[in-house]
Amino acid sequence: MGKTNKNWQINGNFKSKDIISLDQFSTKDIEILFSKIPLMKDIGANAKPCNILDGNIVTLIFYEPSSRTFGSFSAAVKQLGGQTVEIQNPQQFSSVAKGETLADTIRVFEAYCDVIVIRHPNKGAAQKAADIAGFIPIVNGGDGVGEHPTQALYDLYTIYEKFGRLDNLTGVLAGDLLNGRTIHSLIRGLSLYPNNNLYLLSPKELRLKKGDFSNFSKKGIKLIEISSDKDIPKNADFWYWTRVQKERFKNIAVYESVKNKFIVTAQFLKEHGNKNMILMHPLPRVGEILPEVDNDYRSVYLTRQTRNGMYIRMALIALILGKI
Ligand code: NCD
Repeated sequence: MGKTNKNWQINGNFKSKDIISLDQFSTKDIEILFSKIPLMKDIGANAKPCNILDGNIVTLIFYEPSSRTFGSFSAAVKQLGGQTVEIQNPQQFSSVAKGETLADTIRVFEAYCDVIVIRHPNKGAAQKAADIAGFIPIVNGGDGVGEHPTQALYDLYTIYEKFGRLDNLTGVLAGDLLNGRTIHSLIRGLSLYPNNNLYLLSPKELRLKKGDFSNFSKKGIKLIEISSDKDIPKNADFWYWTRVQKERFKNIAVYESVKNKFIVTAQFLKEHGNKNMILMHPLPRVGEILPEVDNDYRSVYLTRQTRNGMYIRMALIALILGKI
């Protein structure tokens, strides 16, 4: 036994790989993953039992609150006929409450299951868990302000589904670019493809860290920081709105002063949007998109985008377990 595949890059082979960052992926890897989605959609639509993950157990251990990531990983494993061990809020409900370290927790659960999906408030915690786990793959379900790779993979899929490509796109990313891990993974993903332009709309306090801005820019993606809705380009293919990450602020007064600067209303969409774009959000939203926009034909956050989350997670787990 032992992790059979210790290379960090996916490099065309998902089997036994940890999934920590979008930096592990090439366009070819993303293509392989996307090629499995029609099968996952069929399985999802079909109420018959599926045995792809027969005999497999996946542990979900989430040190931070979650609805979609937790729920969709749980559903994804069950759709494929596998089973889950589920621990939410281990700080309260597990030996973590007694002072157990992350290292011990990971080593214990790897004795019980075939994959661990972890969400943790500290950036780098998923990589740390992967370094500790000697036998089974670790999947990053969000590590603090770091990354959220599975979210970005289905965000990319949602864009691909609409436009049939992931290059030559113009997007607007809005909200908390500093702390939003979904943003950090999505920019990495879009950087893999040529000729993408991203307009980064936020108050100055919530811009990307300077180091991140220059590292991403070096990858060839064009990043344009804007701080007024008047600078939103009329030709954007997608808007990706995010909430301001309240839990990352030490001073709540600062949060109050920067939250909800750009609220998508029907009027806002009419003024700055176009007919062919899509409006995305990783959710949860806390006021930055009003419900009056939910039924607009361009809004995909409660429909296609969310559904794709389960399909991408089904395909990913099946691939890292070598079952498809
Ligand atoms: C995101 C997260 O946890 O980073 N939620 C999610 O998984 N869809 C976004 C957020 O919390 O704002």
